[in-house]
Amino acid sequence: MCGIVGYVGPQQAVPILLEGLKRLEYRGYDSAGLALLQDGGIIIQKSAGKIRVLEESIKGMQFDSNCGIAHTRWATHGEPNDTNAHPHTDGSGRISVVHNGIIENFRTLKQYLERKGHRFNTETDTEIIAHLIQDNYQGDLFEAVRKALTQVEGTYGIAVVSLDHPGEIVAARHGSPLVIGSGNGENFIASDVSAILRHTDQVMYLEDRELAHITADGFNVATIENTEVTPEIEKIEWSLEQIEKGGFSHFMLKEIYEQPLALNNAIRGRLNFEEGISRLNGLQLQMEELLSIQRIIITACGTSWHSALIGEYMIEDLARIPVEVEYASEFRYRSPIISDGTLVFVISQSGETADTLAALREAKRKGATGLGICNVVGSTIARETDGGIYIHAGPEIGVASTKAFTSQIMVLALVTLLLARQRDMSHEKGRQFVDAIQKLPSQVQSILDESDQIKRLADMFSDHNNFLYLGRGINFPTALEGALKMKEISYIHAEGYPAAEMKHGPIALIDENMPVVVIALKDQVYDKVLSNIQEIKARNGRVIAIATEGDEEIKRLANHVLYIPKVMYHLTPILSIIPLQLLAYFVAVNRGCDVDQPRNLAKSVTVE
Ligand code: AGP
Repeated sequence: MCGIVGYVGPQQAVPILLEGLKRLEYRGYDSAGLALLQDGGIIIQKSAGKIRVLEESIKGMQFDSNCGIAHTRWATHGEPNDTNAHPHTDGSGRISVVHNGIIENFRTLKQYLERKGHRFNTETDTEIIAHLIQDNYQGDLFEAVRKALTQVEGTYGIAVVSLDHPGEIVAARHGSPLVIGSGNGENFIASDVSAILRHTDQVMYLEDRELAHITADGFNVATIENTEVTPEIEKIEWSLEQIEKGGFSHFMLKEIYEQPLALNNAIRGRLNFEEGISRLNGLQLQMEELLSIQRIIITACGTSWHSALIGEYMIEDLARIPVEVEYASEFRYRSPIISDGTLVFVISQSGETADTLAALREAKRKGATGLGICNVVGSTIARETDGGIYIHAGPEIGVASTKAFTSQIMVLALVTLLLARQRDMSHEKGRQFVDAIQKLPSQVQSILDESDQIKRLADMFSDHNNFLYLGRGINFPTALEGALKMKEISYIHAEGYPAAEMKHGPIALIDENMPVVVIALKDQVYDKVLSNIQEIKARNGRVIAIATEGDEEIKRLANHVLYIPKVMYHLTPILSIIPLQLLAYFVAVNRGCDVDQPRNLAKSVTVE
């Protein structure tokens, strides 16, 4: 999953392309490059490493170009180096391409083109596209790209320029996101809106198998099958300020501190305290349809999969509907059983995760109603579901998901309330649930206000190379998420487990060097968790307990205690995850890690 940006218009292209790349850097950051149409030629500059390396390499160079394309890479084919960095050209160097996605039949196409005399310089699948366009070129760049793409299998968001077509960009998408930004006498393309938000809030989302011919004056869109498409321009709601760091040292820290606001946005206009119910119009389901649900499947990846697990506990306990949670990457190939009355929820912050999108399509192919819980408005998953709920967390730029996780759980709580109040949950219980939900944003704030003690704890444990996270019941997934955060940004090996599962193996890992984070809240499994802590202490493990305010007993057992406010059992993950997010953040900072752009990761995984 890479980032693509393009510009054509009266302004100098280089500064616009570089700024756009920086806003897309969270999508992939192992090499970068640009191609500029200038003085009848194409100038290509590319380098391995972050965008600042590219910037360094072109410092002092004079450019005079009003049309160009650029790319930041997350390597799939060919190691991250100067040669494999994008853009790639055809044999003649007249056509240049940047690409986000994977060409699955690139070997077959490569052999076909080699038989026709083409020679290749890189290990990438993308270089094949440039040669294939040249192979189909008969004076019309748009037509050559269209024909070439009829031979391509796989996923792509591409942008193409040619020195024979100054002032023109051809862009196309299938599986990877691409938007066209409509400006005044200028136009833009980008993998997502954040790259062009400074210049326009008017965008058109290209659909699968669509391509566009873009000039400064406008753009035309057609399908790969050559059917004309009428562009639908949409307004972007996010502000530029929302995609800035706002004085925080990292986007991740900013997004952790934005959680009280994000949680309020997730519930705004969706709760009715008087009736003790939630209202979710986006689901597009009538009451009868909701009442006829027999089974729910929730599928997602990574952090979104962890929130799905929490949704399972909530919905099964409170709405008494059987729920199955599936890894999207497994679900799509497992031939799942979709019987009548099965509702499928897909959860995705970016709305572009390839495995989750494919799982949605598979479920719908099998006749399920597919609903989404997404953050990015206008994303592919949001547009392909039968209905859904936006979490309204605002842009999440830090690769490690934080506010999207808690907002996803908040929305799952609203879904649970809707379904439960239709079934056995009483009016009074509903009001208590609404009341507890409405208190969460300020309770999160109270934990954030105590971040200093979490920082001090991080200072004590930043030199450890292993962590164990334990939780029971609805906080087992919270332990998984805490471990994932620590892994993602500090590169420490961390594992999450149901606390009782520990004695069936993981306890072998415990000694005086193993910090064990235990979520030990005053709930129906509290005593069981205390016994688990005893077992750890008996092996000299060092226990960091996440505990309920006012719990004095835990202090006698745990080495360190971080308190969170008391809240209803089914809502505790929204509070218990906050100290774990901050612990991972402070440890990663102490270890000098690149918190917002951890190695080997990318924000939205648009390839399989
Ligand atoms: C979480 O911190 C990671 N960035 C990753 O696991 C992420 O949750 C996963 O890729 C799913 O992304 P999505 O929610 O955008 O689909």
